[in-house]
Amino acid sequence: MNPLQGKRIVLGVSGSIAAYKAADLASKLTQAGALVDVILSEGAERFITPLTFASLTGRKTHTSLWEDDAHVLHVGLGEGADLLVIAPCTAHTLAKLAQGQADNLLTLTALAARCPVLVAPAMDGGMFEHPATQANLETLRRRGVQILGPAQGRMASGLVGLGRMLEPAEILGHIRLTLGRAGPLAGKHVVVSAGGTQEPLDPVRYLTNRSSGKQGFALAQAALDLGARVSLVVGATAAALPTPIGAERTDVETAAQMAEAVLRLCQEADVLIMAAAVADFRPRQVRAHKIKKERETPPPLELEPTTDILLAVAEARRRLGRPAVVVGFAAESEQLLANAQDKLERKNLSMIVANDISAPDAGFAVDTNRVLLLLPGGVVEPLPLMTKGEVAAAVLARVVRLLVEGAGS
Ligand code: CTP
Repeated sequence: MNPLQGKRIVLGVSGSIAAYKAADLASKLTQAGALVDVILSEGAERFITPLTFASLTGRKTHTSLWEDDAHVLHVGLGEGADLLVIAPCTAHTLAKLAQGQADNLLTLTALAARCPVLVAPAMDGGMFEHPATQANLETLRRRGVQILGPAQGRMASGLVGLGRMLEPAEILGHIRLTLGRAGPLAGKHVVVSAGGTQEPLDPVRYLTNRSSGKQGFALAQAALDLGARVSLVVGATAAALPTPIGAERTDVETAAQMAEAVLRLCQEADVLIMAAAVADFRPRQVRAHKIKKERETPPPLELEPTTDILLAVAEARRRLGRPAVVVGFAAESEQLLANAQDKLERKNLSMIVANDISAPDAGFAVDTNRVLLLLPGGVVEPLPLMTKGEVAAAVLARVVRLLVEGAGS
């Protein structure tokens, strides 16, 4: 499912101090299952050695145009690649790419490549903003080259500005997005909700739950990996989670805000996956001022129900005919199957992902999950203990099948 698995990626590194970060990128790509061929420019070799990359990728690092087999190498590397990424890309290499110059193995390979090309500029001071650089970037963009970043921040000279290379994790996200684009969910819009909700009592206190948001974020990434357009509606998460590159994120706090965002997005969605832990009740009254302990006896906590988002979606779906596929989650501490089955039917779902939150290795906060997939007609598919990423991939594989079969509900 990981779109990097088995893919041939050419990583071009040019002469910037950010070259040290390219080592991390090479490592991350290799760990994700890609076959990474690294080409260093002469300038890059002053900052980092070929051995660094050969050690990280397990493959030969290429440097010179005048290697024994270089006459076929540039064509071979370029033509055989699924993707070419140049990170860091200096202002000079950028200019050469814009002009179609081919004076070293890296620029020659770029000229021969027919695959998607991603470029992560890294440069100092005013170089990025210079009209010459901007014109070169525009030329490359027009030719379909994707420009990643640069980011704002502190640069090697000590100056702060626009010119830092994007972090390797972000570059990896862009590569993943590009390679997944033609997947089976291409052209489909998937809405994912993640995290818990917060229901305010007064300006400083709220009621919430233990959702970490990790499963929802993993589902968003898995949908992106299959080429979907992804809207991620995020409530409260235990820690700040990086937004999967390519996901359109909406942040909400309360169940009412989550309902509004999900219902709005669902009007144009093909798939909804409700992984969020939505509060079922909220304080009937939200105090305008902080509740003071000295002035008052313990205040009664009166609650009222929130909107059941999946029930509201089922209602809208009868009118609009979309989303075609709606997936719910059932976090249960007892009678897992019976409760999940009941929710599947009551909320008119295409599938429900049931997990036993009483198990120590599944559910909230941990990185693994053990779930059952329940489908209409009494179909129950137990999945083994998996990482949340693997669970997400398994759920999305099922979603693809449901879309293909047209078995929306
Ligand atoms: N859900 C929802 N709106 C709510 C509460 C839950 O859409 N107000 C969704 C959750 O996102 C999940 C599914 O309904 O996909 C089941 O949530 P869960 O909390 O397990 O079930 P509830 O319907 O709230 O029932 P209970 O709390 O009694 O188990």
